[in-house]
Amino acid sequence: MDIQTETELISVGQQELDFATPYAPPAVQVLARPFLKWVGGKTQLLPHIDANAPAQLKAGEMKTYLEPFLGGGSVFFHIAQRYLVDRLIISDNNQDLIWAYKTVRNNVNYVVDALADFQEIFWALSTEDRSKMYYATRDAFNAKRAEASEDVAFRVERTAQLIFLNKTCFNGLYRVNASGGFNVAFGRYDKPPICDADNLEACSKVLSKAEIRLCDFGDVLQSVGGDSFIYLDPPYRPLSVTANFTSYSPTNFDAIEQQRLAAHCLELDKRQSRLMISNSDPKNNNPDDRYFEDTYPHFRITTLSANRMVNCKTDRRGKISELLITNY
Ligand SMILES: C[S@@+](CC[C@H](N)C(=O)[O-])C[C@H]1O[C@@H](n2cnc3c(N)ncnc32)[C@H](O)[C@@H]1O
Repeated sequence: MDIQTETELISVGQQELDFATPYAPPAVQVLARPFLKWVGGKTQLLPHIDANAPAQLKAGEMKTYLEPFLGGGSVFFHIAQRYLVDRLIISDNNQDLIWAYKTVRNNVNYVVDALADFQEIFWALSTEDRSKMYYATRDAFNAKRAEASEDVAFRVERTAQLIFLNKTCFNGLYRVNASGGFNVAFGRYDKPPICDADNLEACSKVLSKAEIRLCDFGDVLQSVGGDSFIYLDPPYRPLSVTANFTSYSPTNFDAIEQQRLAAHCLELDKRQSRLMISNSDPKNNNPDDRYFEDTYPHFRITTLSANRMVNCKTDRRGKISELLITNY
């Protein structure tokens, strides 16, 4: 089903619920959307990603879908709810992110309860007190970042803290300092939706179909075979030395990492996996830069236009070219 049709169906369904006759309106299934906003999120590019997805996926013939740089998971939620795939594998090397997915999958009711408390308290506060609550939560979150407990209450607390910080921080981004502490400043929003129970429950259902792994991309890529569609959205190759201001984890994804990823992709290409890779378009800055043509010879490169933050200091947004690189 294409995205437009799906959207039309949902809005029709909602109208039926809003204005329905008293007897049993059809239940509307909430489509799961990312419950975290993430740097480099792909929601706005979904129509292009969908249009460029392999025909086997759309025909329901793909055995495995793998997404090793999961982030906010916009592409995973899109694909998992539209196409039939036997096996869904999602992974990322960010521990708090992966714990959050596992906790929402396994213990969504506790997460919703914790977030409902956060929301009730936060909404009732003055801006000054909200700011104090935000920084106290950030300190508490950072104080326990080295703990690796599997205790459910601990995981629920961290997941709720992560979602609360994501919804109330400046610009809803995830960024850490050199020692791994979350360091985004407080954002002033009137009534940020902190607890979206319906969406969290929908996400939990979708996640229950997935294998969720905390690992480096190299580990998971080694484990898949031919009948797979792999969507790879690594931290972008910086457009300039100063452009790489967003850090996802204490280890930066530098030129060596881009090459390590390319080596895996070229190997997977030989195994006939279907690959789709997102990255920044170096031609934004230098029309002669042929890094991706040279690195991925024989792959198809499609240029897309995306709305992105283009300057960290002024919070300026603008259109920028991005690439979709496919081997089919
Ligand atoms: C551009 S984001 C993905 C955004 C995602 N597609 C979305 O729509 O939100 C890149 C992700 O790669 C993860 N990452 C960075 N280095 C990694 C590595 N070596 N192995 C696995 N994941 C990594 C980061 O934690 C981050 O979540």
